[in-house]
Amino acid sequence: TVRIGVLTSGGDAQGMNAAVRAVVRAGIQAGAEVFGIHEGWQGAVDGGDQIRRLEWDDVGNVLARGGTVIGTARCAAFRERDGRKRAALNLITHGIDRIIVIGGDGSLTGTDRLREEWPAFVAELADAGEITAEQAERHAQLVIAGLVGSIDNDMVGTDMTIGTDSALHRITEAIDAISSTAASHQRSFVVEVMGRHCGYLAVMSAIAGAADYVLIPESPPADDWKQHMSHVLRQSRRAGRRTSIVVIAEGTQDRQGNPITPEDVRVVLADEMGEDARVTILGHVQRGGTPSAYDRWMATMLGHAAVGEVLRGDREPQLVAVRGNRPTFMPLMEAVAATRRVASLIEEGRYDEAMAARGRSFV
Ligand code: F6P
Repeated sequence: TVRIGVLTSGGDAQGMNAAVRAVVRAGIQAGAEVFGIHEGWQGAVDGGDQIRRLEWDDVGNVLARGGTVIGTARCAAFRERDGRKRAALNLITHGIDRIIVIGGDGSLTGTDRLREEWPAFVAELADAGEITAEQAERHAQLVIAGLVGSIDNDMVGTDMTIGTDSALHRITEAIDAISSTAASHQRSFVVEVMGRHCGYLAVMSAIAGAADYVLIPESPPADDWKQHMSHVLRQSRRAGRRTSIVVIAEGTQDRQGNPITPEDVRVVLADEMGEDARVTILGHVQRGGTPSAYDRWMATMLGHAAVGEVLRGDREPQLVAVRGNRPTFMPLMEAVAATRRVASLIEEGRYDEAMAARGRSFV
């Protein structure tokens, strides 16, 4: 019987459970056995009962739960060759040679590294007598597929990453809540949202929450941003708005590469405009809690598609992604390389090229 391992790795995201559940159930339906690797790659490095068979009912009642029920970690040991070799030994011992990983670009890169090194590990482990010749022959290759779990929506090759839609809902609810108290007092608020190098959550929540101004890493404001922002906000006050809401993505910088913090923005609102201004940093509430309907069905669809992909196992590793609401496939490391290129173009200040390279309509 074919054995598939499934793990979640890196930062958690809402909808990861839907993906794990779909992998387990689609795998079982296809006649495979599915094993949960707990606590991300750390579970494979540690082995033992961190690698456990998951049956149909083991993934009951997880669809609506936030986070990941099989745990996740950013694993230092897996960054070292020795750690990855240990993971290979533990996987082979459990008869697993197909892996579906749900994580960010770092986790996907580490997984592909293991796949590349796998034949060498198999040879070394067989030579050392840690696995049998039969195990070495049966598990000669590692087949992998990647799903992107991240609220940031920062991966090239997919319209959405698992968790983004839920985070967006949470941010929008928070902006709605802030807006009502802000309006009562005619106050101004600066709301910081997550997203690392990607302003998707900031722009989309600013639109959905009717914010007055938004600052993102991909489009740093011109040097006179303080005057520009003050001008825009004064205009909307004059037009009768009782609030000013500024959404700022973490990781926002000016054109010289100096960070712009929520406090910098608050000071402009308070000192230059005389407003009663407050800062709200949403933090990890964006990443927790129940997944949205979209994240549930999208992750379910991708989990199902990933099982088909690793059972075929006849092409280079694929990113199992979503485009136009359908599962699509793209060579995994091409997607990762393109994503890294976007981040470095942003760092170099080549913003238009970065956005073109990301390949979405905007953000
Ligand atoms: O990648 C997801 C994310 O939530 C980013 O938006 C944020 O910058 C980062 O993870 C926070 O990481 P941690 O949870 O390790 O503090």
